[in-house]
Amino acid sequence: MRLQGKVAIITGSANGIGRAATKRFLEEGAKVVIADIQKEAGKELEKQFKDQGYEVLFYQVNVANKEEVEKMVEKVKEIYGKIDILVNNAGITRDAMLVKMTEEQFDEVINVNLKGVFYCTQAVAKVMVEQGYGKIINTSSVSGVYGNIGQTNYAAAKAAIIGMTKTWAKELGKKGINVNAVAPGFTKTAMVEKMPEKILNYMESITSLKRIGQPEDIANAYLFLASDESNYITGHVLHVDGGIMM
Ligand code: NAI
Repeated sequence: MRLQGKVAIITGSANGIGRAATKRFLEEGAKVVIADIQKEAGKELEKQFKDQGYEVLFYQVNVANKEEVEKMVEKVKEIYGKIDILVNNAGITRDAMLVKMTEEQFDEVINVNLKGVFYCTQAVAKVMVEQGYGKIINTSSVSGVYGNIGQTNYAAAKAAIIGMTKTWAKELGKKGINVNAVAPGFTKTAMVEKMPEKILNYMESITSLKRIGQPEDIANAYLFLASDESNYITGHVLHVDGGIMM
């Protein structure tokens, strides 16, 4: 049990990578808050895990709304008395080529993928500083490291995640808080299913391991960074991408 007794908030965990992470964290003994904007999927997942005997709570939240985020963090602190782990996993895409991208598409992605991470971390870090302990895991992307066609907004947010991760690692290290990021490669979730098959085949062909990632591949990296096994790691960006670009 690598997370026995720990309390974790995982954003965007009603689907995809966050959902796989919720499962792994529960299996390792954590109490998990499924923090997602999708009520139906979140409630259903909560029920499914509760029926299996796990301690899990769905909280409907839009991470791009500062007030909602603060209320959620207050509620979680009230229920469990502490927050040990925050995984900033919620994310969206609104892809378009640079010349066609609307300001709305740009702002939507920045609001969720960048400001959402700022809001969640700021609210949770206050609790973690008081506790003198915490693990924060941010989700970047290969797009943020290498850029990706059609993803001006997304790449900007995901590159910024790396800067924030390193800044927070420096600010919060002395308070007993580790801050790291995972940069997933193309991973089989609803987000990627939107992409044309031709592009996915190409991505597979340039990946050293010759396959698209599975949500569990990323969930296992989150788990490592949330566990005590990574206690001397901070400010790190862990590439979990099958060796797509090196
Ligand atoms: P997904 O689309 O399967 O799941 C995203 C989840 O985030 C959904 O449950 C959705 O309801 C939730 N969400 C969206 N907006 C939200 C908001 N405003 N507030 C709260 N929850 C919200 O996506 P996936 O693939 O599981 O992505 C998870 C993370 O991994 C994202 O940050 C994504 O950018 C990142 N990532 C994904 C890659 C992939 O190939 N799937 C590659 C690199 C990074």
